[in-house]
Amino acid sequence: MSTVFLRIVIFSLTFLNSVLKIYGRPDNIILILTDDQDLVKTGFISLPMTRYLIGEHGSTFTNAFATTPVCCPSRSSILTGRYLHNHGVLNNSLSGGCASEAWTENHEDNGTFAVHLKNRGYNTFYAGKYLNQYGKNGPAVPKGWDWWMGLEGNSRYQNYTLSVNGTWRDYADRPDDYLTDVMAKSALEFLNQGHVRSEPFLMVLATPAAHDPFTPAERYKDRFEHVRVPKGKDFNLHNQGKHWIVQNMPPHTLSDETISKIDDIYRNRLKTLLSVDEIVEKIVLKLEKLQILERTHLIFTSDHGYHLGQFALPWDKRQPYEFDLRVPFVIRGPGIPKNQSFPFPVLLTDLAPTFLQIAGTKDDEADGVSLFNLIEAEKLNRTFLIEFHGEAHSDSVSENCPDVYRDRDQFFQCTLENSCKCQDVRNNTYHCLRHLSDRCDFIFCHFEDDEDFEEFYDLRSDPLQLENTASVLPPHHLQFYRKSLHKLKNCKGRDCRELRKMKVLCPLETQKNK
Ligand SMILES: *[C@@H]1O[C@H](CO)[C@@H](O)[C@H](O)[C@H]1NC(C)=O
Ligand SMILES: *[C@@H]1O[C@H](CO)[C@@H](O)[C@H](O)[C@H]1NC(C)=O
Ligand SMILES: *[C@@H]1O[C@H](CO)[C@@H](O)[C@H](O)[C@H]1NC(C)=O
Ligand SMILES: *[C@@H]1O[C@H](CO)[C@@H](O)[C@H](O)[C@H]1NC(C)=O
Ligand SMILES: *[C@@H]1O[C@H](CO)[C@@H](O)[C@H](O)[C@H]1NC(C)=O
Repeated sequence: MSTVFLRIVIFSLTFLNSVLKIYGRPDNIILILTDDQDLVKTGFISLPMTRYLIGEHGSTFTNAFATTPVCCPSRSSILTGRYLHNHGVLNNSLSGGCASEAWTENHEDNGTFAVHLKNRGYNTFYAGKYLNQYGKNGPAVPKGWDWWMGLEGNSRYQNYTLSVNGTWRDYADRPDDYLTDVMAKSALEFLNQGHVRSEPFLMVLATPAAHDPFTPAERYKDRFEHVRVPKGKDFNLHNQGKHWIVQNMPPHTLSDETISKIDDIYRNRLKTLLSVDEIVEKIVLKLEKLQILERTHLIFTSDHGYHLGQFALPWDKRQPYEFDLRVPFVIRGPGIPKNQSFPFPVLLTDLAPTFLQIAGTKDDEADGVSLFNLIEAEKLNRTFLIEFHGEAHSDSVSENCPDVYRDRDQFFQCTLENSCKCQDVRNNTYHCLRHLSDRCDFIFCHFEDDEDFEEFYDLRSDPLQLENTASVLPPHHLQFYRKSLHKLKNCKGRDCRELRKMKVLCPLETQKNK
């Protein structure tokens, strides 16, 4: 990073600040949030307009991460700027806190970015998937949102129900009902309102793409016909030395039938995203026409990553590997350099603090930091936490799967379609210390299983995470990683923000190579 460039960035930020002071009007914010869209295999392949209109007219953060690789906990982190252990939403179930009363009382009523921005005078709009259990307690509009089009339950594309400003409305499966298109239409109507031009607004478009059931819009169903999922060295690889679900869950490799299903899913995921690319283009054109494009921040990202066949895991998320953690991340707007790439690690917990800073306020208890601080920080160095609670439910285990899964409450999503290779198990509960700097790049994980299993990957020498070297770490390294992970697991607010800059011991291999 050249200092000249940094000075330009800082100058633009200062300039932005003075403009804000003169006009007293903070900038607009639009977040486009996809569902389950991974960076590793999916990325921007079917999003050329998004890459061009946001990425090239703004900046790409090449190291963006979810801090928990599953929908509801991650979305709760996005809304609050907090790690899982500080918002308390453990999994996708109501009993695990997802859209529960406790969540509403402790966070939604007082702590989401919507509430903070509403307090700053923003007009707010939300459309699409919210939290997986949204609707279980009725169609109530979460605090902070003016125009609300929240999807009942989990992602769907057709035959779904929305809470439209607090009243349930059913949609069928006619072409006009395709959820991503319904969202686009409402978003443009929102922007057409007179006051939206004169007052700041916040818009969140949380698309069902590219989540299961992977239903493309009718007009895109024949696209990507010859595309197959990229099959790298880790594809369908029974990898030794990993935690229970990867190492021991049969079958150790996927059948040709399952692989062909994975190809199919991959194509459909790409197709569902074509409708998202269309929304982005429509919105940008609209903002331009209204002459508010230059005062609007557009951010595009996903709630976490996804895997398709890596380490012979069928199709899901929930694993502490790069493919499930990394997300696409582009942003444009005032103070954001054009057509730049930044390597600074950015977390989904940084979104809320970033939005609050744009609005001229802050939340001292947030665990994340504003992106603007990261851009200014100059040094590539960040340590952060990954947390996950293994899910299990007897209902999600097919009766036709072998007896090995007799204890059905320990397993999750084992179906004939995925070769009965369960996508999750109860003891897939872990915490990881993830570090990325210009000195080193590694992850250390501890599983809460019978073995207190540990995994360590030096991502510089082993980017595909093929070799778990936890058992051969020098004792004082191991001790250091355990101790640092313990600190992060228990951090809160300012503590977490300070710990991101902790001094770490780099793995020996990296030091040798230097
Ligand atoms: C961004 O940079 C690339 C590579 O230098 C260039 O090809 C492209 O035209 C640039 N895009 C814009 C919008 O300036
Ligand atoms: C919101 O939460 C903060 C602390 O997190 C507390 O000080 C404040 O009183 C709360 N406000 C309301 C209206 O509950
Ligand atoms: C939802 O409520 C907002 C704010 O009151 C209003 O502007 C908008 O027209 C309503 N939307 C629908 C579809 O009724
Ligand atoms: C939508 O629901 C109707 C009526 O229940 C059903 O006939 C149709 O197959 C469903 N469509 C999809 C795509 O699930
Ligand atoms: C979610 O967490 C709660 C509380 O720990 C637990 O009772 C429930 O079984 C979990 N849900 C799943 C699907 O694992």
